[in-house]
Amino acid sequence: MCGIVGYIGEKEANDILIAGLEKLEYRGYDSAGVAVISKNNIININKKKGRVEILKNLTPLLGTYGIGHSRWSTHGVPSDRNAHPFTDQSNQFAVVHNGIIENYLELKEELRNEGVEFSSDTDSEVIVHLIAKNYQGDLKEAVLKIIKRLQGAYSFCVIKADGHEIIGARNGSPLVIGLGKKENFFASDVSAIIEHTRDVIYLNDFQIARITKENVEVFNFQGEEEALDVREVNWTLEKAQKQGYKHFMLKEIFEQPEVIKETLKVPIHVQNNFSRIIMVACGTASYAGLVGKYIIEEVAKIHVLYEIASEFRYKENLLTQNDLIIVISQSGETADTLAAVRLAKEKGAKTLGIVNVVDSTIAREVDERIYTRAGPEIGVASTKAFISQLIIMYKLAFHLAGKEFDANGVVEKIKETLAKHEEIRTLAQKYYLYQNFLYIGRNRNFPLALEGALKLKEISYIHAEAYPAGELKHGPIALVSEEMPTLAVCPRDSVYAKTFSNIEEIKAREGKVITIATEGDQEIKRVSNDVIYIPKVEEILYPLLCTIPLQLFAYYIAECRGCDIDHPRNLAKAVSVE
Ligand code: AGP
Repeated sequence: MCGIVGYIGEKEANDILIAGLEKLEYRGYDSAGVAVISKNNIININKKKGRVEILKNLTPLLGTYGIGHSRWSTHGVPSDRNAHPFTDQSNQFAVVHNGIIENYLELKEELRNEGVEFSSDTDSEVIVHLIAKNYQGDLKEAVLKIIKRLQGAYSFCVIKADGHEIIGARNGSPLVIGLGKKENFFASDVSAIIEHTRDVIYLNDFQIARITKENVEVFNFQGEEEALDVREVNWTLEKAQKQGYKHFMLKEIFEQPEVIKETLKVPIHVQNNFSRIIMVACGTASYAGLVGKYIIEEVAKIHVLYEIASEFRYKENLLTQNDLIIVISQSGETADTLAAVRLAKEKGAKTLGIVNVVDSTIAREVDERIYTRAGPEIGVASTKAFISQLIIMYKLAFHLAGKEFDANGVVEKIKETLAKHEEIRTLAQKYYLYQNFLYIGRNRNFPLALEGALKLKEISYIHAEAYPAGELKHGPIALVSEEMPTLAVCPRDSVYAKTFSNIEEIKAREGKVITIATEGDQEIKRVSNDVIYIPKVEEILYPLLCTIPLQLFAYYIAECRGCDIDHPRNLAKAVSVE
């Protein structure tokens, strides 16, 4: 993961780099650092363990070009010592890196034998020493030479003390160039540079670029110059700001009615000429895919397989040209999901991406793409992207069935559900000290139980497990006690009576139950300690409504526990390592 920024121009680089890193913090926040080249060609570095804002308290580095990094640790603990940028022994080169250099041990050993002393425990540091070793007067040529030695997925930027240029390379981790007037940028994603420019070039894998104050050049890994594919970013900075909300996550939860409205407008043109659909994704996106499986099978009567991308990429999937692989990804950069796309294409299967970030790597690599219209999602815990993915699942299911999806006033019902936030907050105050939770649901509600439990785990660090309600008696019911409450997703649908019985079984064992139920359902009160009511809608639409209380419950529990909701520990927003 990690975030990279580079700036070269006429302004002071230090503040531009730090501001860019703050936008990229969602990618990792274990440490942060900047390297800026001074007027007299000296590389100066500020780097520290912890959040980017710490850099603001250090004496600003003077100079008009440099590179910056926010870290999500893979090799070596979060510390000052392991923070990027890294320099070579003569302090002539500095590097920031995102990704993993898989053969770093071998490279490190080789460099050590040649007398290089390492100053960190990271895999990244080998890059700068290799560049120093291979430099013969041209930084781009040195980079071209050393990338032949690197195995793994990476993007990195490098500067030389007297270079007046920044070289960036991409193989598997994102890197974008921002084009300005007498200034140019590198960044892991456009949010870091959108304040300065909307004209960007997304580097492809196996490309390197050289940027100077006045010029941008892109080359392939063989060193041949390639055409510049300049694109315009179509969203604004305001969309990526908190706008008065305490956290991005809360703002994004409340944006969902608008997101649904927008995503409902997305046209779907998918041909029905395949024999199987396989949904592939990670985390929350995968749960949207699982809801999709239930809905497509129900509405379009097409068999759908569901796969976690990190598993799919290493197993025998018996793929054929008649398969449609649907990958779902908010960021469009998730390494495992991207690998699934490449694997599917290799086997001749068709790929359809449901992606939020326009022009992201997955969006560019799939055969067909459908963009969700969630706008920039900054909170590490995915919320509005999930609901937009669900909307596409519905639209797709109805499209495949040859019907029109009628969302039937769902936006208003979502608003009504959001209006219950104070009630849910009060409920969270009652439950926030528990250490364990069970989540249950049947049929389309089961993926929601998974998603609700994931939200709670991610941002409140409470242990939560989700099960199909009918599966409880096969083991997990042994966990039920006064100490382990259950959140049951039980709207008035075709499996209501079955889930109701499962709730009764929990109550009979002194378990506490919070139920998400349909307005007017008085019976459910008898078996629940607390009920969160959602408005009555057509049965198939319940997953959309049930999502809201699950998100708000997790949010308010985390708030009660004083957690850093937008920056949960150990996590990062875009998981571009496998
Ligand atoms: C969601 O809250 C997570 N942080 C995570 O599970 C996420 O959904 C997953 O990493 C997939 O990301 P993507 O949608 O960007 O591919």
